[in-house]
Amino acid sequence: MFVKISPFNDQRPGTAGLRKKVSVFQQPHYLESFAEAIFRCCPQLDGGTVVIGGDGRYHNRPAIQTLVRMASAHGVKKVVIGQQGHLSTPAASHLIRETGAAGGFLLTASHNPAGPDGDFGIKFNTETGGQASEQLTEDIYRCTQSLDGYHVAEPFDVDLDTPGASEHEGMQIEIVDPVHSYAALMQQLFDFDAIRNLLASGFSLCFDAMHAVTGPYARCILGELLGATETSLLNCQPQEDFGGGHPDPNLVYARQLVDIMMGQDAPDFGAASDGDGDRNMILGKRIFVSPGDSLAVLAANAHRFPGYAGGLPGVARSMPTSRAVDAVAEALDIPCYETPTGWRFFCNLLEDGRIGLCGEESFGTSSHHAREKDGLWAALAWLNLLALEGKSVAGVMQAHWQRFGRHYYQRQDFENLDMAQADQLITGLRDRLPSLQGQTLNGLYISQADEFAYHDPVDGSVSKHQGLRIVMGEAARIVVRLSGTGTAGATLRLYLERYERQAIDMQPEAALSDLAAAALELLDLPALTGRNAPDLVT
Ligand code: G1P
Ligand code: ZN
Repeated sequence: MFVKISPFNDQRPGTAGLRKKVSVFQQPHYLESFAEAIFRCCPQLDGGTVVIGGDGRYHNRPAIQTLVRMASAHGVKKVVIGQQGHLSTPAASHLIRETGAAGGFLLTASHNPAGPDGDFGIKFNTETGGQASEQLTEDIYRCTQSLDGYHVAEPFDVDLDTPGASEHEGMQIEIVDPVHSYAALMQQLFDFDAIRNLLASGFSLCFDAMHAVTGPYARCILGELLGATETSLLNCQPQEDFGGGHPDPNLVYARQLVDIMMGQDAPDFGAASDGDGDRNMILGKRIFVSPGDSLAVLAANAHRFPGYAGGLPGVARSMPTSRAVDAVAEALDIPCYETPTGWRFFCNLLEDGRIGLCGEESFGTSSHHAREKDGLWAALAWLNLLALEGKSVAGVMQAHWQRFGRHYYQRQDFENLDMAQADQLITGLRDRLPSLQGQTLNGLYISQADEFAYHDPVDGSVSKHQGLRIVMGEAARIVVRLSGTGTAGATLRLYLERYERQAIDMQPEAALSDLAAAALELLDLPALTGRNAPDLVT
């Protein structure tokens, strides 16, 4: 049937899809109109296979039922849905590629809190398994603005809990185990025997699924396949409200795991993933591995894992991410690409075979095995490395820094700023950039002060306004940008980086305090906003 509507105008997706309060998504026609725009902009879905799944948050099930009815009305040949409506983001990406699907709907607002008062979200991934391109995203947005109505089948309910195949008016419906094919992929990439032996030898771990979608993945892969004990797997029962928490694996929100890992009886290895399973945090006994360092360590060692034995063709990081991986790429004599924030920019490079590994400072790392970042993958990569090294996490980091030097790094977030004020901060600094070039800051020469624009080497597209950067050669860097994923007010992100070839044993706070003070002054942030300190430091 065709349901007539008047157009919505607030459906502009951010860097990671459309995210809004649950109550917004519960409005009549809201999800439908966004989905309709996707079906209209992607004619290949008609007659194709579509993968559907989400992070299990509140509203996941009704949203899936709606999407299935819309798929039926738009001529989709087959829908593949994760049992209970669950699919982690990397597993969905893999499933799209494995089933040759024309695309997939991923229902997630990532790490944002869930529940009736929390957030909901949807993103569309194309047949590559990666997020829609900027152009497609823009087309979808434009389409929502002039939409006259949408096509949807008469109500029917799919049983999401029972695996197996069924049919509805010519459309095949397959409910699949969300973990199965992802677990098979991980076994191709990593040496499971070595990891199993490591765990059997008394090496202890702790994985925190934060009451979100990676719980069943961790139970199967870390527990059943690798032998991790039940007690080492925390919060592995997915809940619609993520247990009331904020499933973002960082030092602030993954407090339970951090306390365990910093305690007297800390296990040898700790990791956490976020709501939809794409982010990761890596910890060792009383040590936190900064995401930029983790990327660098994995880049230096990837060739030692079975799935990467041929070496990496290149690596990539988002612009604000620490340049630790650049040092590794230089030593390996492979290219290192610098992309804007947001995973989609890596996908072209991955598709084109230019890179094998990539990552962001925001706890995102992945490889050519999927077109999304992958939290559990990162944990497995570290376990494989630790099994090979026979060293502690701290030992691995020390050896890495001794070889490459250390990039001290911090991201400071100033949340819930007034939008206009935040724009003023950015505009003010942007205007001052030309005058900074050639000056000194904390005794360091400013070699570059500009606004980052990205020229995609694969498709030739240009993305402007991707963050302001003040670069002091190799020695240090300040980056400032506004978040594109928030749902309330504006969040200003300040990224600080300082490189030390020899002095590798400082605390990051101490190493970066002068740079932080200089950055706040440059931005004139305290005077303009009344804020002297960030809300969140990661
Ligand atoms: C944030 C992260 C970015 C990540 C995105 C989606 O975006 O900074 O690296 O790709 O979430 O997970 P931001 O809010 O900074 O725009
Ligand atoms: Zn996520």
